Amino acid sequence: MTTSAPISPATYRSYRDLPPVAGLCTLPQAAVPGLGVDACVARLKRLHYAFKRLHEIWIARLTAEPAYELKMAFSLHAYYAAEHAAALRKRVGEMREPPLGLDVVPDRALEVCFDEILATPATESLLLGLYDVAVPALADALERYRRETNPLADSPSVRVCRFAALEVGDMATYGTQALAAYATPAVRAAHAAWRTRLETLLAVAGGLDGTAPVVPWPAGQALAAAAFVYDPKPQRDERFPDPYNMGVHAEVFLYDESFAPADKVLMMLYKRLREIDVPEMMASILRETPGKPWGYSVDMTRQLWDEARHAMLGEVGFVRLGIDWAKLVRVNFTWSLALNTQLGPRERHAVLYFIEQGLMPKTGKRYEWEVGVASGDPFAALCQDFDWADEVLHARIGRDWYVSTCASVKEAIEYGDANWSKVLIDWNAYVAQGLTKHENWWPELYRAACALRGTTPDPKTLAYATSYAAARADLKDLASG
Ligand SMILES: [Fe+2]
Ligand SMILES: [Fe+2]
Ligand SMILES: [Fe+2]
Repeated sequence: MTTSAPISPATYRSYRDLPPVAGLCTLPQAAVPGLGVDACVARLKRLHYAFKRLHEIWIARLTAEPAYELKMAFSLHAYYAAEHAAALRKRVGEMREPPLGLDVVPDRALEVCFDEILATPATESLLLGLYDVAVPALADALERYRRETNPLADSPSVRVCRFAALEVGDMATYGTQALAAYATPAVRAAHAAWRTRLETLLAVAGGLDGTAPVVPWPAGQALAAAAFVYDPKPQRDERFPDPYNMGVHAEVFLYDESFAPADKVLMMLYKRLREIDVPEMMASILRETPGKPWGYSVDMTRQLWDEARHAMLGEVGFVRLGIDWAKLVRVNFTWSLALNTQLGPRERHAVLYFIEQGLMPKTGKRYEWEVGVASGDPFAALCQDFDWADEVLHARIGRDWYVSTCASVKEAIEYGDANWSKVLIDWNAYVAQGLTKHENWWPELYRAACALRGTTPDPKTLAYATSYAAARADLKDLASG
């Protein structure tokens, strides 16, 4: 009779020494009891709440944030937050949890902490609240969850948290760099007390994930934040000095057969960069349509991020050509300004759908891609290739979340058309109010591009001077041609 050595997690050998437990972790790690389902659910709900609130803040602050780069980063971070909140919702739903209670605020102090960040007036304090307090606290909580739960029993949650941690890490890295640009020692000193308040709120909440010992709320301090007042008016930084300029009609140029594809690329890059106004407008729809299913937030934020990407493709395209777009191109905000201040959120969505479904016929996105290919500039072709693919997705999102609320597709399109027609983008009023002279910036851009290419400007192309004085910027009249 042989006595075998006692077995233990430390000495256990798997067959042929293959990685145990499907390679999730070591056997000793899998043998730690870790957290029970209730404890996991409580933490996951807090993580979900943090992503939801961060999404809300990035969306709410995007439109009126002047710095273009921050607008773009807020678009990306909001999209990440929407996706991770969705993954956490799904996971909580798998954990014996109905009713899910995902819309219940898990802790009053945690709520006030996010309310404070949402309502803080300055960009500097917003960045401090987001990237010096909230995002690092979320990164820590995700890390702690992965460390403390059983990696085998709770593998699906670990997977969700692991993917989330990757992108929260990216947010944190971006935030550190943004703070280096904005949070000077003087700025930090000026907001030191407010920052301490945020830390105190987190401590009173028992930390973002509720795992730290709860600290009592300091007597005499109000457990409430200042009310947030949403600002739907887009703002831009100083590289957009003429935001009411509607002096160059990009679409008329683009659809004129007599102009060369390489020159049309300049106009398409302008159109791409001008898409900065779509995130500005879509953020206002999201902000002003609370109570929708989370899938709506995910899809709409994805589209918002795509539009931000298109703007950045335009920016990169100009830089690639050696063109200083801030000097040579007047990127306006008249569309987002007019929609955000003149229409309700559903009307705005209708206009967006109306314009985007008009981009699908042969003369729309396909045509722009063909121009990109014909220009011989592979980057221009690439921009339009993805712009087109993304717009197909956006038409689907419009069908799912806007058309589905209408009696028919026909009614959905007519309602969008009617609302777009009722928007007042008053060329003459902008001039009368001294907001712009609608300067024709095209000849200077064209001349600069020709100089960079070493070509002589074509007189007819140089003389292009069609403005938006008498036309709106969609394809309604052009698409039939
Ligand atoms: Fe777009
Ligand atoms: Fe686009
Ligand atoms: Fe789009």
